Amino acid sequence: MIRLHEVHKSFDHRNVLRGVNIAVDPGEFVFLTGPSGVGKTTFLRLLYAAERPTSGEVWVNDMRVDDLPLHKLPYLRRTMGVIFQDFKLLKRKSVLDNITFVLRFHGIPPREAHRRAYLTLKRLGLQHRQSAFPDALSGGEQQRVAIARALAYQPRLILADEPTGNLDAELAAELMSLLCDINYQGATVLVATHDHALLESIPARTLVLQRGVIAYDGIWPP
Ligand SMILES: Nc1ncnc2c1ncn2[C@@H]1O[C@H](COP(=O)(O)OP(=O)(O)OP(=O)(O)O)[C@@H](O)[C@H]1O
Ligand SMILES: [Mg+2]
Repeated sequence: MIRLHEVHKSFDHRNVLRGVNIAVDPGEFVFLTGPSGVGKTTFLRLLYAAERPTSGEVWVNDMRVDDLPLHKLPYLRRTMGVIFQDFKLLKRKSVLDNITFVLRFHGIPPREAHRRAYLTLKRLGLQHRQSAFPDALSGGEQQRVAIARALAYQPRLILADEPTGNLDAELAAELMSLLCDINYQGATVLVATHDHALLESIPARTLVLQRGVIAYDGIWPP
């Protein structure tokens, strides 16, 4: 599902990733952790081709994405749902439209897009906010909209960047159980987080990024 081979990534001569090698099989649930600034978001950005490695190979779904031509980007993105650390909600669209917009992009007809968007919002306890605009929501509500948007399409691969950063403990636990359900139904899930409580909430394969390499790969805590 995901494979990184000798991946290096530098920003202005600062080496963030220094030879990352990793493979994630279809259906796995994996945490990616490490201190703030270590490169977790960068790692995820390489997977959805928002960033290119300085050297090395990145494979997602048998597609080589490190040198993906621009016109193939929509095809890659259709295979995954991404929950961004900073949400990236469209401010001029309502909560519901933020989700239907993505479903329409994936080619789902309007009525079905509307139905799925509503059901996903309901699942995240946000149906009563469907007509609100993102700026009128709390941080935790915006985070849940970002989550709903990534899940509504039922992608085979979910990349989540600090998905519980703005949620209280109860909502965080609900989200994790939702991600576990989705994983149980067959999706591959990769969650980047520096939250230790979250890591310890479910036993799962955990990749620890440290000084640019995967320093630990196994169940956490060791
Ligand atoms: N576009 C960029 N230009 C320059 N430096 C960057 C860029 N993107 C990331 N960096 C740097 O790369 C390093 C890793 O950043 P990244 O956001 O991947 O860390 P992170 O592990 O996600 O941190 P956090 O836990 O705070 O989210 C940081 O030092 C950051 O400043
Ligand atoms: Mg980050």
